[in-house]
Formats: sequence, C-alpha cells, structure tokens
Amino acid sequence: MIQSNYQLIAYSNGEVIWNSGIVTGSESQFIRYDGAELVSRQQVNWNLSVTTVDETGIQETAHSEFARFEMGLLHPADWQAKWIEPESEIDIEDRKPAPYLRRTLEVKPGLKQARIYQTAHGLYEFWINGHTGTEDKFKPGLTSYYARIQIQAYDITKLLKEGSNAWAVMLGDGWWRGMTGGTVKNNFGYKLHYFGQIELTYENGEREVIGTDERFKYATGGMLASDMLMGDIFDARKEFVDWKLAVFDDNSWMNVHCTTEHADVRLIASSSVPVREKEQFTAQPFRDAAGQLVLDFGQNIAGYVKMKLKNCKAGQKIRLVHGEDLKDGCFSLDNIKHGVLQSSEFQEVIYYCSGNAEEEYCPLFSIFGFRYVLVEGYNEDINEGDFTAIAVYSDMEETGSFICSNLLINKLVLNSFWSQKGNFMDVPVDCPTRERNAWTGDAQIYVRTAADFMNVYSFFEKWLKDLSLEQYASGKVGITFPSTSSVHNPVELERNIKDNPLWALAGPSGNGSIGEDSAGWGDAAVWIPYMIYLCYGDKQILVNQYETARKWVDYMLACAKEHNPLYEQESQYLNYEEGELDADYIFDTKMHFGEWLEPITKEDTGESVAEAIIRMRTHGNPRVATAYMCRSAENVAHMAQILGNQEDCTKYKKIADKIRKVYDRYLIGDDGVIEPGHQAAYVRVLAMDLCSEEKRESVVKQLLKEIENNNYRLNTGFLSTPFLLHVLVDYGYSEIAFRILEQTENPSWLHAVLLGSTTILENWDGMDRHHGSYNHYSYGAVCDFLFSRVAGITPLFEAPGYREFELRPIIGGTLTHAEASYECPYGTIRSRWKKTKNGLIYECSVPVNTRARVYLPDGQCISVGSGDYRFSVGA
Ligand code: BGC
Repeated sequence: MIQSNYQLIAYSNGEVIWNSGIVTGSESQFIRYDGAELVSRQQVNWNLSVTTVDETGIQETAHSEFARFEMGLLHPADWQAKWIEPESEIDIEDRKPAPYLRRTLEVKPGLKQARIYQTAHGLYEFWINGHTGTEDKFKPGLTSYYARIQIQAYDITKLLKEGSNAWAVMLGDGWWRGMTGGTVKNNFGYKLHYFGQIELTYENGEREVIGTDERFKYATGGMLASDMLMGDIFDARKEFVDWKLAVFDDNSWMNVHCTTEHADVRLIASSSVPVREKEQFTAQPFRDAAGQLVLDFGQNIAGYVKMKLKNCKAGQKIRLVHGEDLKDGCFSLDNIKHGVLQSSEFQEVIYYCSGNAEEEYCPLFSIFGFRYVLVEGYNEDINEGDFTAIAVYSDMEETGSFICSNLLINKLVLNSFWSQKGNFMDVPVDCPTRERNAWTGDAQIYVRTAADFMNVYSFFEKWLKDLSLEQYASGKVGITFPSTSSVHNPVELERNIKDNPLWALAGPSGNGSIGEDSAGWGDAAVWIPYMIYLCYGDKQILVNQYETARKWVDYMLACAKEHNPLYEQESQYLNYEEGELDADYIFDTKMHFGEWLEPITKEDTGESVAEAIIRMRTHGNPRVATAYMCRSAENVAHMAQILGNQEDCTKYKKIADKIRKVYDRYLIGDDGVIEPGHQAAYVRVLAMDLCSEEKRESVVKQLLKEIENNNYRLNTGFLSTPFLLHVLVDYGYSEIAFRILEQTENPSWLHAVLLGSTTILENWDGMDRHHGSYNHYSYGAVCDFLFSRVAGITPLFEAPGYREFELRPIIGGTLTHAEASYECPYGTIRSRWKKTKNGLIYECSVPVNTRARVYLPDGQCISVGSGDYRFSVGA
C-alpha cells in the first residue's frame, strides 16, 4: 500500500488559515505550515486527510482527528510581568532556604480560559489553589541561561474559581546556583528569581493580565536547602499549612522586589521534552555488613525517593543517602563522590519530622543517581509502599527494542536503555551522580544508539542550539554545554583555581571543566546533527547546525596549522605539497582526552591526573585529533551537498582527502603498525577510512593481532569502542565481532552484566573494583551494533529517516535468534531471524510509504515495499 496524496487544513477562529490543497505523492513527513504568520496566543486546529492506493488499485481516504496548538507570547510587548527577587542579603557560600512566593488574584464571573506563562532563575514549582495541573518537573529546564531561557505555558482554566485564588510558587537552586554541571556552587548566579504572567480571558472577550511584581509576598518555610546534587534539608515543623491556598494569612510575609538582573536575556518558548516521573520501584530493605539499614531498589536510576513515615517524633532526623554501590557488603559512595566537590553533602535528603502519626516527603528540586539508599534515624518496620524510588527523565517516545537468545546481551540492552534514561534529563549528562555535566564527547559517541531507543530529535535539537550559541568566535567548541561557572562567572573561576590548582589548566577562557576543547568531544557539533538527519530525515537540523559544524572544522584546521615544537624535527614538518606543509594537515596541538579510559594505558602509567593533563596539553594527540578532523571535514562536505552548497562540498571533500593522505603517510607504518598494544588506533583508522588501499590489509591484520593478543577482549576507550564490532563485520570478521560481544571476561560489555550491573559503567574496571560511576551511558553505544547489524535495521543517507532502509541481519556467535523493532517516523519496522534445523527463517515488517532492501544471509537481495514478509533460507 502506498499513499497517493494528502491534504492538510489548519483553522483558527473557525476560519481556514492554511490549506495545503491535495498534494499528490507519498510525502508524509516534515510538511511545514505555510499560511499567514501566526500571532501571540493564536489557537490553531488542524487535520489531515490521506488517500492510499493498494496493489489492486483500490483507493481509500482517511481523515485524522483534529489536533490543536496554541501560540505563546511572542513579543516583549506581550509581557506585563517583571522579574521578582525574593532574597535580599545572601551569603554566597551558604546553602539557602527555598523562597516561597505567593499572591492572591480575583477571578470575575464568566471566565472562559486562563493561561500561566512562567520561568525562573533556578527551578520553580507553582500551584494554583494548591494544584499544579502539570506533571512536568525541573522547570524551566537547562539552556545557556545568559543567552536564552525557556518559558513554560500551562492551561490553568480548571484550577481557578470565581472569587479569590492563590498563585503560589517555590524556587529551588537548580542548575542556576546549584552544583549540578560542575563541582562548584553558584554555577550561573547567586540569587533566585521568578517571572510569570497569568492571563484570564472572559466570555465577553475581556482579557485580564496579572504579571509578577512587588505584590508577591515571600517567606521561607520547611525547605531549608535544596540543591539538585547535594540534596534537600527539609524541616516539616517549619512548613506552613495551607500556604498554597487563598485563605492563608500572609501578613507576616515580606514583600519581594523587582530586579533587572539578567532580565534582558531572550525568553523562548520551551522546547524541552518535558521531564516527568516515570517507572517506580519498591524498596527491599536489608542490613548491610556494618549493620546499617539500606534499601535496595533493584535498578540504578536517576530520580528520587518518595517516603511515607509513621510514628516519628517531632524533630526526629531522618537521613537518606543515595548511592550506587555496596563495597565489602556496605553502602558506599566511594565510586561517585568527587574529590573536588565543594561540599560534604552529596545526594542526601535530611528530613526533620513534623511528629504527625503519618507523614510523607518527596524531593521537588533534587535528583540523584542511585540503586541503594542508606536510611538513618528511622526504626519502624518498612512495608511495601513506604519507600518508593521514582525514575525521572525526559519523557521521550520509546522507539526500539531488541532481544536475542543470549540473555546477558538482553540484559546489556536493558542496562544501556536505563543509562540513557538516567542521563537524559533535559540535557545529556555523563552521569547522574558525580559531575552531571552535559559532555559533548559522551553524547556524540552515543547519539546513534540513543536514537534507536527513543525519539531524541527534539531533545538534541534543543541542546545543539545551546552548543551553537556557546561556540567561540574562533569556531572552538567547548566540552560541556550549557557550560557552567568557568565561562560565565569569572568570580567563581577565580575561586576554583584557588581551591584546586587543577582548574588553572582550564586556561583563561576555560569552559566549565578541565581542558578547553578536545577532538572527539567538539565533533559533537558535526556528528550529532549528521546522525539526527540520518535517523529522522529532517533537513532542518542541518540548516540549524551547518554553520556551527563548519566553523568547528575550520577551527581544527587552524589548530593543525599551529606548530607543535615537540614534532618540528619530524618529516611532516619538512615536506611540502603544492606549497603547503604536510604538518598543516596534522592536528598535533591542544589538549585532547583521546581514547579516554582506554583500559590498557590506565594501569601502566601511574601518572597523577594533573601530570596526565600537562602531558596531554604538550603532546597533543595527532592520531586521534587528525582522525576527527578528517571525519568532520568529510561530514561537513556531505552536509553541504545535502543543503545544495556545492562550493563548500567540494572544498571540505578536498580537505578531507588531503588529511587522509597525510594521515596514511605519517601516522601509519608501511607494515600497518600504528600504535602497538592499542586496538583503538586500528579501529579508528578503519572506521574513518584513513588508510590507503595498499596498507588496508596490514592495518586489518594488526587489529586482529591486537585482539588475539588480548584474548578476544576489547581494549578500546571512549571514542573507538562504538566502532570496534562494526569494523570487524565490515572487513569480514563477524565471528570475531560476536566473540568479543559475547565475551564475559574483563574488559568486555558482559563482564559488568555478569556481576549484576543494571546500567552501563564508566570504566572497564568492572563493579568488583568499585571504581568510577556505574551509570555512564557512552559504552552502551554497542547497542547500535545490535539494532543495525545483528537485527540489521539500517537507515540510509540516500533516503534518510528510514524512508528507505536496509534489512541486513548478521548471524553469528552463539545466537540462535534475534529480533528488533523500531518505531521510525513512518511506522514500525520489525526484523527477526531464527535458526532452524534446516537453515534460517527471516521475518520483517516494512511500514507504509517506505521501502527496504532485504539482504538475506544466503546472499540474496530483495527490494520490498510496505508489508510483512517471511523468508526461509537454506543452511
Ligand atoms: C566525564 C566523562 C567525560 C570526560 C572527559 C569525565 O569526568 O565523566 O564522561 O567525557 O570527563 O574526558
């Protein structure tokens, strides 16, 4: 069946504002509204008709239900709100109580609709007459706060009543002045602010606008401190009763004042995928080896615990500490608690009881990475439902699933998915515990797999815009976004350097963490939009990101032209071609994280972190940095071609070819040797096509030798791990790929699975070494190999977004069956194979409006349109 035409009609105020007309063809994605410009608050209803024709020529037309959207406030003039600042004098070193804000407002008879538009410096939660009417958490989300901040809009019509109503707000430190996204407090600012506007529209057409101003009252209550990473201190005895209701007497509360601090920052409609409470887990209580009460939730998540307490005395102190590990049988934070963290409080909730027979607490503004919770100060029996862990993350549509006959691989897939959930909270962070920084490298490594598991288009679209906003004029791209205090807050940078000289290495224009830029990290600027285009097919992401990508490549090329005195005697600095020095195409300057956490190097060096950083800064990393410069130049050339920019396409293609030639000549030995003892060096070259035809076979041989020497265990680090198995399959060694995939000895993906991990670990050390974070998603990137090679579902650049795709399953290892399903923009793709006595059965489903090329293991290739298929392949 295929679509023969569509028609889209949009209405506003009962009138047609856009009619696409009947458009012939099978186009069914990314059709953009093309009517008159929409104005603030405009409500639009739209529906769609689609006509399909089947193989027998029968036509059928279907009409969608109406969908609707409403425009936000588009212009500064729409706002009557002022930014309000509750706090006056504050101590910037201290943790501070959460501001409680409130005012009442009168609603006249005949209310037709009501909206609230709002944001905050910090996090906000709001209540209208005690109800929020939304499940969205961690608002307003994280953006480059000094450049743009998001406004959320909610329909509050049903929460209001005629007469007096209460508008109550609580503020939390959040990313703004919290510790998340670095190791210091006050990441963006020192004071919390709120900005909001309620608009009441009456049946008679009157619109009443109530903006935040001095009429808001302020107090502090039970929430004595709330930081996303450090956690909460809450004294239930100090909490106001009914402060969210109109009847509350706020006479003793103080007045807020208005502020212009950061008030000129651009307000934008929220483009975050809302963060929501998702799965819940019940506690299994036990005593650890030290006799402490510990709750095991069975799954490592990012979220918080909702607790119900009984029979506690007023003022009784309950302490919950959230961690991932049990070391020597005892609850432990050793693997995640940072040496340079500016606080002793870490992932904990301190709750002073009210003394009521039953009481409940659940954090509003803090989020922790944990599987275990240490409970102190509570001695009652714990029943089911008393302590519930709630996973909290960006609520993206789940799109992919994979299972096969190896149960450990199935668990690996679940672990990877959980690490994605645990780290995709408005921005993609490295881990939900220690740093919680949105590291570019981790995200670029994992983006393909992320898109297998969930629809990540909007999630990355938003984050990439911040990446572009923070790109330096030179084209340099930092290592974390939105970058935190080192960039924005010179006072904090100064303080960091004083406290820990390591920070000085960040250099004068540091960007939120150690180091300034890094190949493989900054390349997120290129690779992420490129992969998002491949997976979703929307050119808009390339339109948005092209200039950023191109400038990053130009920056790398400029760095390559700088000389590194360490290498100046080597032949690349002596040879010229067409008037250009060969060394100009080798990126041998700057600091790079390289094959970060490559198992082999860590053991041997005995270097301190500071020494390692100094070495990295002086030596550069020509093999890694030049490889990424080449890949990104190639990607930019392709992006330019897609966008119709032939001139750039030719230019960057030529640059990529030149880098390739120089790489082959100076960085790969004639015998194919690149860096003995490092699989990564060979994987990188083969994955990025950096060697000449003449050396290719020897490079492959070297890789096989390295793998054999390491007893079929991997020893790749962050950057090359995702390519290892792909490369082996591409060069005809799928059995070796499966052997490494199914390996359970360390280093391997399944080692941690065997030891009971429920997420992906940061290090190859395994859980038995109690080292590093247990929830670091990047090594989970192997899951793309499962979706795209083992199940064989592969998108194609010629027809991106799975408009056309390949189904090319690879059968190997101990697997007797494997299957995956993927919800692409057109519908569900299924791919399933099962070994039988006589060979193999392969089944697949191809959605309407797509085509697939099916490559069967016996060498047959069949092109199919939408439908369900079954093939029997002989042994
Ligand atoms: C983070 C990583 C990150 C790295 C940079 C670490 O501390 O946790 O995931 O990419 O630093 O090398």
